[in-house]
Amino acid sequence: MKLKNKPIKNILVTGGAGFIGSALIKKLLDETSFEIFNLDKITYSSDLSRINSLFDNKPKKKERYKFIQADISNDELTQKTISYANPDIIVHLAAESHVDRSIDSPKEFVNTNVVGTFNLLRASTSFWESLPEERKRNFGFYHISTDEVFGSLGKEGMFSEQSRYEPRSPYAASKASSDHLAKAWYHTYGLPVIISNCSNNYGPWQFPEKLIPLVIIKALRGEYIPLYGDGSNIRDWLFIDDHIEALIKILEIGEYGHTYCIGGNNEKTNKEVVNNICNLLNEYKPTNYSYHDLIKNVTDRPGHDQRYAIDSTKIRKELGWLPKINFNDGLKKTVLWYLENLNWAESLLIKSGYEGERLGLNK
Ligand code: NAD
Ligand code: DAU
Repeated sequence: MKLKNKPIKNILVTGGAGFIGSALIKKLLDETSFEIFNLDKITYSSDLSRINSLFDNKPKKKERYKFIQADISNDELTQKTISYANPDIIVHLAAESHVDRSIDSPKEFVNTNVVGTFNLLRASTSFWESLPEERKRNFGFYHISTDEVFGSLGKEGMFSEQSRYEPRSPYAASKASSDHLAKAWYHTYGLPVIISNCSNNYGPWQFPEKLIPLVIIKALRGEYIPLYGDGSNIRDWLFIDDHIEALIKILEIGEYGHTYCIGGNNEKTNKEVVNNICNLLNEYKPTNYSYHDLIKNVTDRPGHDQRYAIDSTKIRKELGWLPKINFNDGLKKTVLWYLENLNWAESLLIKSGYEGERLGLNK
């Protein structure tokens, strides 16, 4: 990892108890000797066992890991956490991340994604300004964002770094605001900021409110599988490990002031995704009915974006990143992982108070 050659001692990750943040922390603990600080509020979607699972076989790694429970919408706590972690790099993933929840409770999204990011940027800038020259030169703030900020595509075209911002859900609007704040802090205050906008992630350890794990859990429970609208909406799926590889590349050689679009080149309709999951379950967990019989078209998501697709040319050409895992392999790995770890998923659902019910109908 080229990151090892950088003059870095401490990395602060926000949202490290979540799906993507925990995968990043595990990779950093595994492949570097840096101290890793994890700032997380511990909301319903978080779970520290995602990280602690690493220490079962590698207990020494725990010595370089510190968890700090804090809410980034709390200005003072955010400042204190940054001073305590004394980071060379901040990777900002903390967010409310589910579109359906943003339809039901948009305020949480503004508090965390907009106000929280603002607090973090401001506190990071004061901290960065206070650093001695060499550490100041090497400091970086990495803001992790989504392709949803660009809105909805029709049949043609792809999102790229040049796409217009056209968010259409409260989640997307809050992430778009956070991107704008991060860019403003780069241009106005000189904070060394890099932004990445990624497509739909999937893989082990994802909270079962997002399409793929929710469908697996519903199918295994024998409950109906909700397909929004006619199931023709398209997402560009990226396996979690490929996203983490992209983030590491950006940390290693990304350029400040730049944004990078990350996508899997795996466009699938929701109907295809759900059918593929059912095929895999029929093969690996056969029962006395076909899982396909559980699929049910339900009321569409309000403002449902039709299609996302990412043109990743820039990160491929400039940083040499390529996704390695094709959708069939990634989906098989994911389904097999959930079959092995059903208890984890069901316990997390109980802990979170979410039972798999329909969200986002604004009722
Ligand atoms: P997640 O919901 O699994 O994790 C989010 C984490 O942030 C949780 O651990 C939660 O406790 C923490 N958090 C929430 N509010 C907080 C607050 N106020 N203060 C501190 N911590 C808080 O989400 P994820 O899927 O891991 O997404 C991580 C980031 O990546 C988000 O910024 C999201 O917008 C972005 N992203 C996600 C995807 C995807 O497909 N999942 C794709 C592109 C970008
Ligand atoms: O594109 C990146 C974004 O992908 C991330 O920024 C978000 O954090 C992440 O939640 C995801 O947003 P989506 O809305 O695309 O993901 P979700 O898993 O909620 O839905 C994927 C598609 O499946 C979408 O078209 C809605 C549909 N869907 C979803 C659920 C939960 C269903 O048909 N049935 C369902 O039960």
